[in-house]
Amino acid sequence: MPLPFKHLTSTKQLSREDMDAILAVTKDMEIVLEKGGTDLLEGKVLASLFYEPSTRTRLSFETAMHRLGGSVITADGLQFSSLYKGETIEDTMMVVSQYADIIAMRHPEQGSADRAASVAEVPFINAGDGPGQHPTQAILDMLTIFKERGKLDGIKITMVGDLMYGRTVHSLSFLLGLYNDVTFTLVSPEELKMPEKVTSFFDEKGIAYTETENIEEALDGDIVYMTRIQQERFADKSEYDRLKNSYVLEAHHLTGKDITVMHPLPRLKEISTDVDRLPNAAYFREVRNGVIARMALLAMLLGKA
Ligand code: NCD
Repeated sequence: MPLPFKHLTSTKQLSREDMDAILAVTKDMEIVLEKGGTDLLEGKVLASLFYEPSTRTRLSFETAMHRLGGSVITADGLQFSSLYKGETIEDTMMVVSQYADIIAMRHPEQGSADRAASVAEVPFINAGDGPGQHPTQAILDMLTIFKERGKLDGIKITMVGDLMYGRTVHSLSFLLGLYNDVTFTLVSPEELKMPEKVTSFFDEKGIAYTETENIEEALDGDIVYMTRIQQERFADKSEYDRLKNSYVLEAHHLTGKDITVMHPLPRLKEISTDVDRLPNAAYFREVRNGVIARMALLAMLLGKA
């Protein structure tokens, strides 16, 4: 089934049917990845534009394109790009549309992805727009939840940390909220609570959620999704320093618990390394799922799945 849109800027575009269709394609992509690759996208070019720091997401997109037999052109670092000279995002998109068959872009400004998609002549994928959205991370998180827990309906998820500026939790909330009987526990300091754009979605859809500052009483569900306090979004550095160590998940918190630990990475101190050896720790498996999910999306948006 082709996706009913050309560009992917937000998880709010996706229906449950779209998400299920992507998950179905990931099954084939997992087999392709195990074999080392295919030539499905031979002759196609991905432009990978990262105007904000990234290791994982950029390498994940580029790996996905290479494994599908396509090739990659790349630009990173705002200071090395024409955007720094003052070129608009719109002009950059018009230019890059002449080079590539599909574009993935990360940019520090919320809303930059919508501006890019409004003019891109080839499919455009938002790889993170400031504190806005990060739809491909949410899709790979959905794949991870499904693989780890064997279901999406009925998931009980605890999201912890910087829920205000963390774009991954925004995107994931809109997607997981498409499934039945999902419940959210939102753990954050008062200053970093989930924004209204997400809680109003929960309210409209009648999705159950609770907000608390206490992590230890919230570790009884299927998933605990830890996030980094997003240093780069704070105007006041002392405010970041005050909040940066709000939550630290340690192995002893998980004793006797069958809860899956996820994290979009990079991790700072919010998950102690003693958690890594536990079967609960899914964050490095999540990275491999990222390649699989992006392979599925590249193929689908290019009409080749
Ligand atoms: C996340 C991001 O960029 O939003 N990282 C990622 O894409 N894997 C999370 C983060 O930076 O904290």
